Amino acid sequence: MNLKKVYGMLLLTCSIGAFAQSFKVSSPDKQISLALSLNENGALTYGIQYKNKEVIESSKLGFKIKDQDDLMNNFSIVKVDSSAHNDTWQPVWGETKNIVNNYKEIIISLAEKSDKPRMFKVIFRVFNDGVGLRYMFPEQANLMHFIVEDELTTFNLAGDHKIWWMPGDFDTNEYTYNTSQISEIEKLAKKRDGAIFTATPIKGAFVQTPLMIKTKDKVYMNIHEAALVNYPVMDLHFDVNTYEATATIASDAVGNKAYLRTPCQTPWRTIIISDDARDIIASKTILNLNEPSKLTNTSYIKPMKYCGIWLEMHLGLSTWDYSGTQAATDANADGTQRTKTKHGATTENTKKYIDFAAKNGFGGVLVEGWNTGWEDWFGKWKEDVFDFVTPYPDYDYRGLNSYAQSKGVGIITHHETSGSVTNYERYMDTAYRLMSSVGSHALKSGYVGKIIPRGEFHDGQWMVNHYLRAIKKASENQIMVVAHEPVRPTGLHRTYPNFMAAEAARGQEFNFWSEGNPPEHETILPFTRLMGGPMDYTPGIFKIKKSSYYPDAKEQVHTTLTKQLALYLTLYSPIQMATDLPENYEAKPDAFQFIKDVAVDWDDTKVLHAEPGEYLTIARKAKGTNNWFLGSITDENARQLALDFSFLDKGKKFTATIYRDADDASWDKNPEAYKIEKITVTAKSKLNLKLAPGGGTAISIIAQ
Ligand code: NOJ
Ligand code: CA
Repeated sequence: MNLKKVYGMLLLTCSIGAFAQSFKVSSPDKQISLALSLNENGALTYGIQYKNKEVIESSKLGFKIKDQDDLMNNFSIVKVDSSAHNDTWQPVWGETKNIVNNYKEIIISLAEKSDKPRMFKVIFRVFNDGVGLRYMFPEQANLMHFIVEDELTTFNLAGDHKIWWMPGDFDTNEYTYNTSQISEIEKLAKKRDGAIFTATPIKGAFVQTPLMIKTKDKVYMNIHEAALVNYPVMDLHFDVNTYEATATIASDAVGNKAYLRTPCQTPWRTIIISDDARDIIASKTILNLNEPSKLTNTSYIKPMKYCGIWLEMHLGLSTWDYSGTQAATDANADGTQRTKTKHGATTENTKKYIDFAAKNGFGGVLVEGWNTGWEDWFGKWKEDVFDFVTPYPDYDYRGLNSYAQSKGVGIITHHETSGSVTNYERYMDTAYRLMSSVGSHALKSGYVGKIIPRGEFHDGQWMVNHYLRAIKKASENQIMVVAHEPVRPTGLHRTYPNFMAAEAARGQEFNFWSEGNPPEHETILPFTRLMGGPMDYTPGIFKIKKSSYYPDAKEQVHTTLTKQLALYLTLYSPIQMATDLPENYEAKPDAFQFIKDVAVDWDDTKVLHAEPGEYLTIARKAKGTNNWFLGSITDENARQLALDFSFLDKGKKFTATIYRDADDASWDKNPEAYKIEKITVTAKSKLNLKLAPGGGTAISIIAQ
């Protein structure tokens, strides 16, 4: 750790008057400045300026503690520590090879003016692209263990800004986004979609984080948190008249919020700020606020593409449960007689996917519905449904793992907990050891439904701890984790790089059985959900309309085919699914080539165009090569974007294969029409990207 104590060098100004003390800390590049002040009531407040304009006005810090006085006023400052930090680190996998961690830090230690003073510290880190703040409670006689009733931190925004938001809800993040002014939140709080099984929206002006904000002066801000450990999730409650947002943390089943024992600390509250939307997406501040990797063995952690027994169930072509096998005498959707059982995860079907993965260079095959319990998994609120170790009779668990490995492929084992988490905790250790013993080093977990048996929230402290316990236990068994319905990520994949990806937002699946995700959805996700970490969105759908399977079906994916290709770049994950059915890829081998070629681990990333809810272009350099892959997407509007290839190495020639929307393509009327063109490009080349409504372009740029 290159932590330099440089008290004298810091741009720290301190004025101590009769009543108020104030401090100022500027970012290394001096564009962001943090103002702290202890007011006449002995309360510490903070505010933030960006390029000399106030973006966070004087905001509060403190807590409501159960059965005690509020921890907010009546403090004196006992110590101020300041330092500067600048180093570079390398992630185990990621969007760039090197990550710069450069900030100024100030720690204010506060103690109550009382004969039994309680104490806490507030740590602020000021980066060139934002600010992080966290509370620390040292070990102390007057505050040993306590229950947080509320966190009182506020983010006092300076105006009625435009925000991209979903309703506050501590049980799900699977909403579409609203775009509105802050003052309109209550009016718009979106009707809940029938397909969100767990939704528990909070009434009032509540929104979830990561929250994306744009001011009238075109300053972009993102509020979220980093290193969420042993503490509940933070949503935000807005005062729609003053635009001040107050942290609102999830409670447990009996209404308590956080059970803490000193010494302890809260997660970081993060505010990313720039007048260029591209910087928000490129920010590494949330990662930097997480601790370095705690894993010593990372040899089993391998970014990969995978396919799997998944979409066929979401389309209703096969079932998770085995009892479907008995009913397998009906016809296929196209009228032909079924020759196979209806159960998806059979030995024969799994072999077909393994062969497909091996043939196309994919590292994994996800198998859902392999284990007993699916007959009872949903809506029955049963506690002991799955044991996570017993396969159905038509699934050769050990044999398939060996078969996969003999072909250089790994099976991604699926554990759907159906929200019965106490039950899962009982079986986790055995189940992970079994996986490890057969060489299955990747797990997809799922937490559909209310948390059984106590009715915890998915976002409460108990579940936050469960998700991390699972990641740690998985690492002990050399298992990578992809979690669905988890708490939304906060950069913990830096500390536990076996935590590859999470869902924690509305994924592709909604397009198959609900009104789906509007064309703007994927242009908002990178500014919101993905700020905390990679998403298992499951891109790559080629058969866009469900009517291809069921003539009367109205559901569809709300993009063009080539936008699906571009999503491999714009929705970052080190583990990406080739989601469509093998036969749909085999029918379009020219477009499938992009999915086969695209990398999943990167030495460099350039965000070239970005505007939340409208468009995004990202180019990434594949790890250890000179090859680049680029994805560009738009919302429901057709768009032209000027692409400049100056990110390429100078003096080199590249073959660019451009997968673009056909001239008459559009997400609703003609979504599968595409064109593929090959050209030679250099760092001097320019190209006009033409994106159809709901469209996108993907380009592979291979060094000649
Ligand atoms: C919801 C998950 O998001 C999806 O991927 C999975 O197939 C189903 N639950 C069943 O576990
Ligand atoms: Ca889900």
